[in-house]
Amino acid sequence: MVLDRVPLAPLTTLEVGGPARHFVEAQDEAAVVESLRWAAARGLPVAILGGGSNVLVADAGFDGLVIRVAPRGRRFETTGTGVVTLTAAAGEPWDDLVADAVGRGLAGIECLSGIPGLAGATPIQNVGAYGQEVAETIQTVRVLDRATLQVRELGAGECAFGYRDSRFKRQPDAFVVLAVAFALRADAAPTLRYAELAAALAGTARPSLAETRAAVLGLRAKKSMVIRAGDPNRRSAGSFFTNPIVGAATADEVARRAGAPQMPRFPAGAGRVKLSAGWLIERAGFTKGTRRGAAGISTAHALALVNLGGARADELIALAVEIVGAVRARLGVTLAPEPVLVGQSWPIPP
Ligand code: EPU
Repeated sequence: MVLDRVPLAPLTTLEVGGPARHFVEAQDEAAVVESLRWAAARGLPVAILGGGSNVLVADAGFDGLVIRVAPRGRRFETTGTGVVTLTAAAGEPWDDLVADAVGRGLAGIECLSGIPGLAGATPIQNVGAYGQEVAETIQTVRVLDRATLQVRELGAGECAFGYRDSRFKRQPDAFVVLAVAFALRADAAPTLRYAELAAALAGTARPSLAETRAAVLGLRAKKSMVIRAGDPNRRSAGSFFTNPIVGAATADEVARRAGAPQMPRFPAGAGRVKLSAGWLIERAGFTKGTRRGAAGISTAHALALVNLGGARADELIALAVEIVGAVRARLGVTLAPEPVLVGQSWPIPP
């Protein structure tokens, strides 16, 4: 059933922004197709919403049809020696899947514990944290091709995954993700690649998947990256910018401009270097807890912008633009916003 003028703020973790002119919650694949036809017949633009944890809705809202993709269902099947495939419909809450997999002793997504949102969103920005990203376990992504309204199964190799990047992110109007299949490993040890996670588990001999999940949840909680009632930093979209990947010479130049030879830098393959956006933001003069009206920077992590209560999208956008401008002017790096802005485009010059 299509509803009119539905407030979107309560459907997002940032809790800002205006209404959808039309809104539908699609409980199954047929409803997604029917909703796309409904919008096409009226010449209306479509925005796809999942768990709302990586979107910023403009104050004017969205002048079209918002489809909340909500099909549920998951199954675990042994598909090879020591391999169990978890197939999850797009509307499955992500962290429930992680908890379920860990509880069954299946490895591959344990480091992705505590991430809000729904399974269908994970391939779009190739969700990653604490040493894992979904691209490493995704086997196939079941999509609806919006041009033909046909269902297709894309293999991982067809998804163009990169750091916080995919074919779905680059062509945002091409597909609707309907389900994702993840290849998990039975009897495998947790991934302890991320230095901070390895350090947190240093006192635990042969950490289990469950201990790894608990450690990740603990680290995330310290950074206000799990949503908890009463946490003043809770209204956020997680990281608000991606970590910039630059050439080695640019990294040296940034460190020189920052006056900090010890600047954090991480190998990103092919001789490139990943910089830490949170560090760059602090170095450009924004301390944690910076406030601009009801928008601010989390007191727990410089990379999260937060709605301190009653913020307008414009306040968050203005703060983001201010940060991008200052980091560029002082350090010569251009930060890219991570959340999808619904209802307008980013006012950030390239
Ligand atoms: N740092 C600062 N100040 C801060 C925060 C971080 O200087 O306020 C520096 C420190 O040097 C720290 C380094 O940044 O050692 C890395 O910080 P952190 O481990 O918190 O990771 P991140 O690079 O800031 C990324 C992801 C997070 C993910 C964590 C853990 C991106 C854009 N963000 O953050 O993902 O949870 O790693 O793996 O890649 C998200 O995308 O929404 C998200 C939360």
